[in-house]
Amino acid sequence: MCVTCLHPGARVVATDLLGARADALQESFGENLNFAFYDLDVADEDQVKEIFKRVAADGHLPNVVLNNAAITGEMLMGAGKSFPDFANTSLEDWEKTIRVNLTGAFLIARQMDIDIVGRYPAAFGQCGVNVCVERPAS
Ligand SMILES: NC(=O)c1ccc[n+]([C@@H]2O[C@H](COP(=O)([O-])OP(=O)(O)OC[C@H]3O[C@@H](n4cnc5c(N)ncnc54)[C@H](O)[C@@H]3O)[C@@H](O)[C@H]2O)c1
Repeated sequence: MCVTCLHPGARVVATDLLGARADALQESFGENLNFAFYDLDVADEDQVKEIFKRVAADGHLPNVVLNNAAITGEMLMGAGKSFPDFANTSLEDWEKTIRVNLTGAFLIARQMDIDIVGRYPAAFGQCGVNVCVERPAS
């Protein structure tokens, strides 16, 4: 996704949890002047509010938000557990997944509305774009 956006000249503000994926992103694109990275847990309301302020303070004004953060099956079971069948899926894992995949997308979209679309309507012809990349079950 970063390659697709950076190649034609778009500026990309990427976020992820700290860890190997974040490191890989920064290794791949950190030298690109059109790329900026911020660590963020999309399930944390305070972090989501704060990141929009930091991004704006750093001079970025995103007009498209791509909600791609997700707990996929591999990530959920990453601690060496095998993937359970439906009958053995725990409520804890269900709630964790909903918190990131659904609530996280809501928090980001809402903050985009508050801090970008609502604040700079003229800059975007009174519109902003929010794209959610989800599928109901993996
Ligand atoms: N890969 C595909 O072919 C495909 C196709 C259709 C839909 N989707 C959907 O797109 C979404 C993403 O899929 P993917 O293949 O890119 O998954 P992925 O695991 O490669 O990427 C998800 C990213 O979200 C990050 N993440 C997880 N929890 C987070 C949190 N709390 N805060 C911030 N970041 C967090 C992970 O670190 C990871 O980098 C999923 O909902 C998936 O179902 C993927």
